[in-house]
Amino acid sequence: MAMDLLSKLGEHAATVERVLVNALGATDSSGKATFKMKSRLLEAMRYATLDQGKRFRPFLTLETATLFNVGLHNAAKAAAAVEMIHCYSLIHDDLPAMDDDDMRRGRPTTHIAFDEATAILAGDALLTSAFELLAEPMPGIDTNVQLQLIHRLASASGVNGMAGGQMMDLLAEGSTLDRKQIDLIQELKTGALIQCSIEFGALLGNATTIQHHALIGYGHFLGRAFQLADDLLDVEGEEAEMGKALGKDEAAGKATLVSILGLEAARKLLDDLESQAIEKLNIFGTEADTLRAAAKFVSQRRN
Ligand code: IPE
Ligand code: IPE
Ligand code: MG
Ligand code: MG
Ligand code: MG
Repeated sequence: MAMDLLSKLGEHAATVERVLVNALGATDSSGKATFKMKSRLLEAMRYATLDQGKRFRPFLTLETATLFNVGLHNAAKAAAAVEMIHCYSLIHDDLPAMDDDDMRRGRPTTHIAFDEATAILAGDALLTSAFELLAEPMPGIDTNVQLQLIHRLASASGVNGMAGGQMMDLLAEGSTLDRKQIDLIQELKTGALIQCSIEFGALLGNATTIQHHALIGYGHFLGRAFQLADDLLDVEGEEAEMGKALGKDEAAGKATLVSILGLEAARKLLDDLESQAIEKLNIFGTEADTLRAAAKFVSQRRN
């Protein structure tokens, strides 16, 4: 893995961490019982969000924003909002009613560390906190642009995005779908939020229509590649590196591209998606090299 990509991932992760820590505050130290009850929720939100994960979506927002010289403060806020939605989706994805997983990011899932009701509420509250953060003042950003960010994140997360994709993923368990149907599930459950992370940079940076479309194209292929890599790693990865239980997709009868194409063809498709993503960046010069490296990272990642 190229060192400069890893150091960029680390740099952007540190930037978004500061916003998340700030947004999720310190646990309420008041001794009152009512505050103690509420602080359990905040603790669960912090547990599921802080100091965890690759921060790949915030990386995409911050890196795309860099293409357009967007101020870091506003870009980091937008990046943190996307990560909150992502962390909420993981809490709910791991619940017994969904994928029923006990390990995530190398430690017990939120419903194991707390309890199911707290995990559900922590997901709900992260979802709303994301929009609270996105609606905060963004100095220097047109409020119309801010409204577009809110609209974009809502559509990427809801019935036509992540939540809709998760519904289809669950309903498809045990049935054989065709390539087109699986592509759609993956685009919605995972691709939508990845595309949105990238578009955030374009929206904040007032990208031209041509630049915006190029980045939408990049996000389209990158999102599909990201879930395909996750599905390949579910078969071929190392649990210690991944920090979650593997081999779960086949056991649950999940409809994945690996299940219908086989490992070899799935790996070939991943390479093709990587190339197609990179090709979409042709209109940009060397300033998009980190985004090009990100496409390679997606197909080569081990966690
Ligand atoms: C895992 O996402 C769930 C999928 C959408 C495939 P990530 O692989 O980005 O998980 P973290 O945030 O790094 O833990
Ligand atoms: C998750 O897909 C997609 C989400 C929207 C959270 P998976 O169910 O394959 O993700 P992992 O493997 O549990 O991380
Ligand atoms: Mg799932
Ligand atoms: Mg899962
Ligand atoms: Mg998976």
